Amino acid sequence: MGLKSKDLLGIQVLSVEEIRLILDTAASMKEIASRDIKKVPALRGKTVINLFYEPSTRTRTSFEIAGKWLSADVINISTSSSSVVKGESLKDTGLTLQSMHPDVVVIRHAVPGAPHLLARLLKASIINAGDGAHEHPTQALLDLFTIRERRPALEGLRVAIVGDILHSRVARSNIFAMKKMGMQVRVCGPPTLLPRYVESLGVEKFLRVEQAIADTDVIMMLRIQRERMGAGLFPTLREYSKLFGLNVDRLKVARPDVLIMHPGPINRGVEIAPEVADGPYSMILDQVENGLAIRMALLYLLAGGQAANN
Ligand code: CP
Repeated sequence: MGLKSKDLLGIQVLSVEEIRLILDTAASMKEIASRDIKKVPALRGKTVINLFYEPSTRTRTSFEIAGKWLSADVINISTSSSSVVKGESLKDTGLTLQSMHPDVVVIRHAVPGAPHLLARLLKASIINAGDGAHEHPTQALLDLFTIRERRPALEGLRVAIVGDILHSRVARSNIFAMKKMGMQVRVCGPPTLLPRYVESLGVEKFLRVEQAIADTDVIMMLRIQRERMGAGLFPTLREYSKLFGLNVDRLKVARPDVLIMHPGPINRGVEIAPEVADGPYSMILDQVENGLAIRMALLYLLAGGQAANN
């Protein structure tokens, strides 16, 4: 069995079987990271283009490393040094890249639906690396993978997602993914940062962190996305931190074995205290490491690679 679509545009269109296939493929890919020579010929002769219209550290770097470990040729396009600054449209950039015969184009863009446009225009597989506040499917998959490593039975797990839910593509993709896997999802944040429709996604809404995180298996903290919001959605960062930040005191109401996650980049002392981010239950760097395995799995599954363990 493979993936049904040539593209990965979002979580909603994936079946539970496809999500399991991606997680299982990532589990077998993860071992490559522990080898002395981190290289398998699975994607030899394939070309991957990273096309990032928004800043990224984790996603862009891990797609580049993932492609290189699988022996693909990886090209990174930073839009600030491309013809985008001369006014070239997304459509024309996409068609130009298609003429160079890439097998996969990984795109991050501020406009929701930008990857979907490229998917219609290009023969190459398109991977959505984040489109505005819409979806960030590879983040949700690496988050599920990270949780499954520690809690193998995902069904029935309780997760609290805390922070700026309104502007978060990570929250949306995680809600879709977690609900598909039978997990119970709570969301918590200031009323102005919770979408009005959020309960229609099958999640419980909380306005107090202590209530949201009590008796959960996973706490996922999100940063305030100041780049996507107008003024006036909350008074000050200091007040936000006081009311919604995860600190050692607040953690006392959580289960002693709770997993603490954050997609990054973190704002230490705002949504998460340094002692919690660096503490024993923090999965933040595991998430980053697992991003490599998930992105290797996706490149492999979408680019039609050969057996990866030779
Ligand atoms: N989590 C995430 O998408 O991080 P980057 O913006 O650094 O890629």
